[in-house]
Amino acid sequence: MNGFNEKDGILHVDDIALPEVASSAGTPCYVYSASVIRDQYAALKGAMEIALPADRQPLLCYACKANSNLAVLSLLRSLGCGLEIISEGELVRGLKAGFDPAKIVSTGVGKQKSEIKACLEAGIHQFNVESLPELERINEVATKIGKTASVVFRLNPDVAGGGHDKISTGRSHDKFGLGAENVTKGFEAASTMENVTALGLSMHIGSQVFTVESFREAFDKLPALVESLREGGHEITRLDIGGGFPIVYDDEKLLDLDAYAAWVRDIIAPLNTEIIMEPGRYLVGNAGVLLTEVLYIKETDDRSFLVIDAAMNDLLRPALYDAFHGIEAVANRSNAATTYDVVGPVCESSDIFAEQRNLPTMAQGDLAVIRSAGAYGFSMASNYNTRPLPAEVLVDGSNHAIIRQRQSFDDILKSETIPDWLK
Ligand code: LLP
Repeated sequence: MNGFNEKDGILHVDDIALPEVASSAGTPCYVYSASVIRDQYAALKGAMEIALPADRQPLLCYACKANSNLAVLSLLRSLGCGLEIISEGELVRGLKAGFDPAKIVSTGVGKQKSEIKACLEAGIHQFNVESLPELERINEVATKIGKTASVVFRLNPDVAGGGHDKISTGRSHDKFGLGAENVTKGFEAASTMENVTALGLSMHIGSQVFTVESFREAFDKLPALVESLREGGHEITRLDIGGGFPIVYDDEKLLDLDAYAAWVRDIIAPLNTEIIMEPGRYLVGNAGVLLTEVLYIKETDDRSFLVIDAAMNDLLRPALYDAFHGIEAVANRSNAATTYDVVGPVCESSDIFAEQRNLPTMAQGDLAVIRSAGAYGFSMASNYNTRPLPAEVLVDGSNHAIIRQRQSFDDILKSETIPDWLK
């Protein structure tokens, strides 16, 4: 069966029982379902196929900051995806996973010279420019190596979107994008530059955007600007409308993909440009869990703490955004409920995955999963408390493979040195 399912009382991913994964990869480890990723990609692509004419189908550039494991990238590349990158490291990953550079877009407010050069040498599709000094730098680097950079300007539409203050990017006080006036200045400046071709606009208002009207509000800012730029003599042939589709973490009432596709049809498609989208979380978020083992059950006067072997360094979202993640037992799933605080071993009170959560009564050594951890899970993990980065496993039907080994202590320590004078 596809995705996360219960068989004989045990939680499985596709055909694989999670205890089997725990024995081969150890815990904590991330486990991803290839079939769920395929289904999510098909749902998004399918909604666009229905809504938009054949000659306006979007290029889907997967925002790989969500989950940049090479195997996950490879899977999405094999489905026909392009890639959105935010760093030179992500470019290196993307090229290694075999993405066609002509389907790669580079975003971010702080593109470095080396990264601009690497992107130009690879021949990426476009830079999404976030400031006028960045435009100058791109031209400078392109001139130096004799290339021409295709750029679009990221419009900051001054629309609030995003499921949390820290993941909203489209308000005028956010560091992202340019106001309409500066976009126009950018086009004018670009038209005087030899090694830059300005082709259009981009926009990304935030992530986990569940105030769905925000998308429409932001899209609505584009037609007038496109018109005024065209009147000013600028060709607008590309619109990149970003990512931000939400997924289910709890019981949220979410964006109807068909409604979103209809806005793209009604507002974006009539502008007769190439359309680019940058979905991240939607493609991989619900495809992953963090598999963990119960280390201790600690009873205090106030609480029952389920102390698990995963921590905030493995999955930062609850500590950073107070994000809700579902938690499930892998076995004995119909045990009577107990109310737990689910916490990790890190020495911070914010190392807590759930407070006062009802779960089937668990015992030391039992396995549990933290759900919806496929996006911004491993990719935000760190070595805090000198905890090794967890393993990652990909399940595909009856196949499963470790796609990243758990880090060793040697891996962690190998780039550190003690200066001679301290020895
Ligand atoms: N495009 C740009 C320019 C972005 O900055 C992002 C995400 C995306 C696309 C993809 O957005 P998505 O479709 O995944 O919502 N760490 C946070 C999320 C940060 C998102 C950063 N940018 C979290 O765990 O919720």
